Amino acid sequence: MSNNNAPIGFFDSGLGGLSIFKSINELLPNENTIYIADSKNAPYGEKGKDKIIELSIKNTEFLLDKGVKLIVVACNTATTNAIEYLRQNYNIPFIGIEPATKVAATNTQTGNIGVLATKGTLSSEKFLKTSAPYRKKINFYERDGEGLVEMIEQNKIEDSAGLLQKYLSPMLENNIDHLVLGCTHYPFLIPEIKKILPEHIKILEPGQAVARHTKNVLAQLHLLNASENANPKHIFYTNSKTEILEQFIKTHLSLNNYCIEGNY
Ligand code: DGL
Repeated sequence: MSNNNAPIGFFDSGLGGLSIFKSINELLPNENTIYIADSKNAPYGEKGKDKIIELSIKNTEFLLDKGVKLIVVACNTATTNAIEYLRQNYNIPFIGIEPATKVAATNTQTGNIGVLATKGTLSSEKFLKTSAPYRKKINFYERDGEGLVEMIEQNKIEDSAGLLQKYLSPMLENNIDHLVLGCTHYPFLIPEIKKILPEHIKILEPGQAVARHTKNVLAQLHLLNASENANPKHIFYTNSKTEILEQFIKTHLSLNNYCIEGNY
C-alpha cells in the first residue's frame, strides 16, 4: 500500500525529466524521490509507439518494485504514446507531461505559435487530438528537434546552436510569439534558444504547472508527505554514464541528500 513517506517516482529517456524533477522538488521539498534516467534508450522520440510503451512498462515496473506512491512520466514522448496504456494497466496515479499548446494558443497575439518537440510526440494521436481544436484558428509551426536530445545527453549543450538556428528560423519567419518546448530535455537549451529568439517571444515549458498539478493530486489522495523533519532522500538510477548525471544534478538542482545508482 502507498503511504505518505513513500517516494514519488519519475522516469524519462534520460536527463530531460530533471527539468520537471526540479520544479516538483522546489514545490514539494519534503518528498522522497526515485528518478530513472533510461539514457541507454534515448531518444524515445525516434522510436515507434509499441517500443515506447514497452520501455514505459519496464520503467513503471521498476518504480513500483521500489514502492513509489505516484509516477511522473517526465517525458512528453512517453506521455503522448504510453500514458493511456499505463493508466489502464496499473493501479497508481500517473502525472503526464504534454506540450503547453493550449497556453500558447490562448495567449498568442500574432496567431502563430511554434512547437519544438520530438517526432514521437508530434506524430502521436494524443498530441494531434489535443491540439486539433486550436488549429482551426491558430497557425502551428512545428519542428522535430532531431539530434538535440543526444547533445543534451552528452552534456554538449553549447553544440546545439547550429541545429537550433535551423529549427527556429522558419518559426521566426512566420512571426511566432510563443515557442512551446514539447520535450522535457529542451528547457536545458533555453540559454541557447534565447540567443536566437527576440525577447518578446515567450518560451513555454511545463515544469511549474506540472508541479502544481502533482501537489493537487497528492493532496486529493491524502498522500502528501506532511512530516516537518522529513530529511528527504533522492535516488537516481541510470543505465548510462553516472558522471554526466551527476554533473546535471550539481549544476541544475540543489539537493543535499542524494545518491546515484549506475545499475538500472
Ligand atoms: N525527454 C523526452 C520528451 O519529453 C524524450 C526525448 C527523447 O528521448 O526523444 O519527449
